Amino acid sequence: MRRPSLFAVVCSLVCAASAWATPFGVRLTHYADPATTMAVSWNSDVPGDNQVAFGTTPDALTTTFVVPAVNTSAMPAPLGTSFSARLSGLSPATTYYYRVGAPGSFYPAPPAAPLSFTTMSDDRCDPVRFVVIGDNRADTSTGAPGVSDLYGGIIGESLAFSPQLFVNTGDMVKNGDVPEEWDAMIRASEPTWSTVPSITTQGNHDTGDPDGDGALYNRLYELPQNAETDTEDYYAIDVGPVHFVSLNTQHLDASELPAMAGWLDADLAATAQPWRVVFFHKAVYSRGNHSTGEEEDADGTPGVINRVLTPIFDAHDVDLVLNGHSHNYERFVPTLGYDAAFGGTGRTFPAGDKDTIDPAAALPDGTVGTTYVVTGGGGARTTDIPFYDDLVCIDSACTFCTGINLGGCDGDVLDLDQDQANLVYDGSHHYVAIEIDRGVLTATVQATATGNSGAEVIDTFTIAKPSFTSALCGAEGEGEGEGEGEGEGEGEGEGEGEGEGEGGEGEGEGEGEPAEGEGEPGEGEGEGDPPAGCTCAGGDATALPAAGLVLSAIPLISLIPLISLISLISRVQRARRRAIKHLATG
Ligand SMILES: [Fe+2]
Repeated sequence: MRRPSLFAVVCSLVCAASAWATPFGVRLTHYADPATTMAVSWNSDVPGDNQVAFGTTPDALTTTFVVPAVNTSAMPAPLGTSFSARLSGLSPATTYYYRVGAPGSFYPAPPAAPLSFTTMSDDRCDPVRFVVIGDNRADTSTGAPGVSDLYGGIIGESLAFSPQLFVNTGDMVKNGDVPEEWDAMIRASEPTWSTVPSITTQGNHDTGDPDGDGALYNRLYELPQNAETDTEDYYAIDVGPVHFVSLNTQHLDASELPAMAGWLDADLAATAQPWRVVFFHKAVYSRGNHSTGEEEDADGTPGVINRVLTPIFDAHDVDLVLNGHSHNYERFVPTLGYDAAFGGTGRTFPAGDKDTIDPAAALPDGTVGTTYVVTGGGGARTTDIPFYDDLVCIDSACTFCTGINLGGCDGDVLDLDQDQANLVYDGSHHYVAIEIDRGVLTATVQATATGNSGAEVIDTFTIAKPSFTSALCGAEGEGEGEGEGEGEGEGEGEGEGEGEGEGGEGEGEGEGEPAEGEGEPGEGEGEGDPPAGCTCAGGDATALPAAGLVLSAIPLISLIPLISLISLISRVQRARRRAIKHLATG
């Protein structure tokens, strides 16, 4: 038990002690190299609950990290104090066990098992699995405190996929400036986020006053920062072979969008990662309760996301764009270009008749398109297909009223006839499970038992990248690397940190020799050669040939017992026939 304190005594008189005396909302995020670092964050009403005890065996959490003041933030009630421990110098592909809090009162308290996480491999040829969820907020019409009651069940079901990472496409809470709502969010997320790290983006409901680094969102989640604004509002991070970019579609006015777009262009130009996945909240294309082109620029002209961002995606061969905002699932066949309605010259679709288009076909000129996905089925009320049964086109451009946009037409000016055959649409609550294994991306879209009549695969697709070569195998292939390590110790414990060079077998070690009571981080640098035994061809990872892309309905076999494969394929086929639904009324 924690030793009695004046705070605890007072608290016991005015609040439920069990809820106040324990760290809560434990969450993992990535702030740097996922193979060697991890951000462990939590909140507590006890300002001294600022430590992580961790180790590689559950009964020997011998390393202690003390959160420095710079990563400690006093929050408005009921969020107490927020702590973020930036662990570094970790070993790749290694499971760590941990507890948070303070000596004598760590959480989870023994004899309960400690929490755990596993660092990513530093070999880009090892498979990467991640789950994408969005719009898990409570509905505006309900009194729920910020987070949908369905969210915990939906993300909990996704653990069956064994994700190494969660990607959230935004709108995590209903009102981002209400601390009670974030309290609900971090508590609801703890069962999953305390074991699997997340990377997130801000939705329009997540913002608050103040914005930027002062926003509750940015104070709670430890993520990379961008050099443009020195905030976490948008950022990039490499995970395995994937270059993830998180954009912020609350930055669409003239004072912010050009800076973000310029940063994006430079960031994508600089990456040598073979896979590029960009995620942000408001969708480039959607036919849900929010629509294509509805976001305006400073002059009130619609389509600013399409006009500004799509050419950058095209220029840098972005493979996949993940959005939310509309509460449904949508996938558009890969395209280049954007619509004339927003200032473009039109999109390039795969060849074929637009009403019977083959989604596996390449674009007519052989170039690679970007696959656009909306995943907003994380808990908020979904916009289901039956909404479209009553769809009425009211003008030649088929501007129409959809779903919950009952107050007016939503301004979607895409050619409905062209668009309908290029779209997979489903209104189920769901998550998107993606595995990238070298040159193949396989996605399975899973409607969950939570929020639906039953669990069901509602879509699958693959993207192939024949240009992926074995030159990418190993822990970086070029032999030059730097590393740094940190270690801190408390009391009589011995703190030690290790940093491994990024140059394959290259070594870089740092050790912290803690003095009594507190240890200082160690640092190290190293150089190395590609790992022994690697079949690397020594190729320059920046000189990648253009990627190829195909789509097909291939189930994620690794997840599914073979015995049920045949029945699953049948279910997928039925689901696809249902989901690829013609939206026109005549
Ligand atoms: Fe939204």
